[in-house]
Amino acid sequence: MTESAAQEILRVGRSPSLRGVCSVPGDKSISHRALLFGALCRGAVEIRGLGLGGDNASTAAALRALGVEVQVSGSTARVEGRGFSGLRQAQAELDCGNSGTTMRLFCGLLAGRPFATTLTGDPSLSRRPMGRVAKPLRLMGARIEGHSDPQRPEGLLPPLVIAGGNLRGIDYALPVASAQLKSALVLAGLQASGKTCIEEPGLSRDHTERMLRFLGAPIHADPVTRRVVVDPTGWTGELIASAVEVPGDLSSAAFLLVAAAVVPGSDVTVERVGLNPTRTGVLDALQAMGANLEVFQTSEAMGEPVGRVRVRWAGPLRAARIAGDLALRSIDEIPALAVACALAEGRSEFADVGELRVKESDRIASIARELARAGIEVEQTSTGFWVQGTGGRPPKGGRVSPDRDHRIAMAGAVLGLLSDEETTVPSEDIATSFPTFAEILRTLGADLKS
Ligand code: S3P
Repeated sequence: MTESAAQEILRVGRSPSLRGVCSVPGDKSISHRALLFGALCRGAVEIRGLGLGGDNASTAAALRALGVEVQVSGSTARVEGRGFSGLRQAQAELDCGNSGTTMRLFCGLLAGRPFATTLTGDPSLSRRPMGRVAKPLRLMGARIEGHSDPQRPEGLLPPLVIAGGNLRGIDYALPVASAQLKSALVLAGLQASGKTCIEEPGLSRDHTERMLRFLGAPIHADPVTRRVVVDPTGWTGELIASAVEVPGDLSSAAFLLVAAAVVPGSDVTVERVGLNPTRTGVLDALQAMGANLEVFQTSEAMGEPVGRVRVRWAGPLRAARIAGDLALRSIDEIPALAVACALAEGRSEFADVGELRVKESDRIASIARELARAGIEVEQTSTGFWVQGTGGRPPKGGRVSPDRDHRIAMAGAVLGLLSDEETTVPSEDIATSFPTFAEILRTLGADLKS
C-alpha cells in the first residue's frame, strides 16, 4: 500500500436507485486456498477469477517467500506447484498483513515443514488470538512460540515462530466453529503420520474440504456430524490440478445486495457468485426480512455451487433475529446485515456472534460505534447486539472510522447511501477484500467520489 493510497478517502452521498447487472471479484476464502493448494500441486496451476484484495496478495507473497513462483496478472494467477516437500525456508519473516486466514492456514502448513518460520501481521492481526491454532498443532508435535496475551494469560498473539516437522495425527474437538482453525489442522494432518479427526461445534465454511477433495487429497468430510477425517497413510502426497476457477465473493456481493434492498427503487443482479450453503446465511436473512430476492444456481466450480442473485427493492425491511446456525452461515456478513436491520422496521437481535469480537476489529464494538454515529439506537450484549431500525428515516452522515476493518468500512459506506449528509470512508481499508467496491457501486448509480 503506497502513502498516497493510504490517504484516499471515499465520499458517499445520498444515492438514487441502484440498478444494473454486475459481478464481484473472486471469493477471498477460496482464493487463499486456490493459491496455497496450488502451491502444493506438482507443476503449474492456473487460477482464474482470483480475489483482488490485499489479503489474497498476502498469501501470494507468503508463498513466494517459501520459494514458490506465483505470478499474478489481474484476476489470473499462475502458481508453480512444488508439493509440500518443495517448500523452502523463508529468508525473512512472512508478513500476513491484515489476513487472519493467511496466518492460520500457514500455521498448519508450516507445522509440518522441517524448518523455522516467523509469521507477523499488521496491528489488527497482531491482536487476534492464535492460541486456538497453536494448541492442537503443538499436540501434533509442532513447536510454536508467540507473544502472551495480556488479556488472557493462556492466550497467544503474533508474531509467531513455528518450528515444524514429524507430526502425528490427533483427534480434536474444536472449541469454536472456525474454518481457519479447521483448515490449519487439515493441512497439518496431510503431513502427519496416521489419521487426524476434527470435529466442529457448528459447521463453518467448508471450502478446504471441497477443494482438497477436488484436488485428490485423502480427506473425508461429513457436514451432518461436522467431522473431517484426513488420513494420508499410503497417499502419494500429490495434489493434482492444472486450472481452477474461483467464484465471485458472496461476502463482497452482500454489501451490494443489502444496498439494493434498502435504497428505494433498486434492482441489482450479481452474477457468477459463490453460493456455498455454509456461506448463504445472508440470503436467507434478507429473505426473512422481506427482501425481494431471486437466487439461481448456474454452474459449479471445484465442487462449489455458483450462480446469480437478484435483489429488487420492495419497501422497508422487517426486523430480524440472527442467531445460531444462521449467524454462523452469515458471520462475515453481519456488518452488512446490521445496516439492513438499522434501516428496517422494528428491533433486530444478533446473538451467538461472540466470534465477531476477534475479527479484523472487535466487530460488535465497531458496528455499535458506527451505527450510533449515524444516529441509530444500538445496544451491545456479550455475544451480540440489538439494533432499533429507523424504518426508513435517513441515518446521519459523518466520518466512518473502521479501525482497519474492511467490512466495517463498507457497511459505513452502504449506510451513507441513504444519508442526506456526506459520509467519508478510508478507501485503503476497503481494498483488503474488495478494491473495486466503489467502482461497481458507481456503475450501479451510487453517488461516490474518491
Ligand atoms: C475464513 C474463516 C472465517 C471468516 C474469515 C475467513 C476462512 O474465520 O470469518 O473471514 O477463509 O477460512 P474463522 O475461521 O475465524 O471463523
